[in-house]
Amino acid sequence: MTRRILLVNGPNLNLLGTREPEIYGSDTLADVEALVSRVAGEFSLEVRAMQSNHEGEIIDAIHAAREDCAAIIINPGAFTHTSIAIRDAITGVELPTAEVHISNVHAREEFRHHSYLSGIASCVIVGCGVQGYDFAVRRLATLLAG
Ligand code: DQA
Repeated sequence: MTRRILLVNGPNLNLLGTREPEIYGSDTLADVEALVSRVAGEFSLEVRAMQSNHEGEIIDAIHAAREDCAAIIINPGAFTHTSIAIRDAITGVELPTAEVHISNVHAREEFRHHSYLSGIASCVIVGCGVQGYDFAVRRLATLLAG
């Protein structure tokens, strides 16, 4: 079985480190990707990291994961609250998927309280800062170990 995780970060997460640091912290996207690779390495898992501000590119990456990934970690950014298409892509590829949000979306504006993904995600990690990505890798490693 393939031992690779697809890590997807959605719109505006390329600005991590400088974007609203009081909400999202000071770690950059490169820091997050390095963190995920390091934790994945503990479980002999590889990581393919991508970030996109475009919904279709995210959907294409999820479809491609069906060929060579065992699981997905996704922070869909604002697409969380709008995208039935990303939900359908994840349902379609049938890979265990961890949904991560750096901030506690439930303590923020009402429009962030609903996620189109949460109902089909294997786990949802919210409000743990970038440590949520670490938890996501560990949870997926547990699921993959069966
Ligand atoms: C986010 C929360 C979303 O509401 C927001 O649009 C983001 C980031 C988070 O990681 O906390 O871009 O997904």
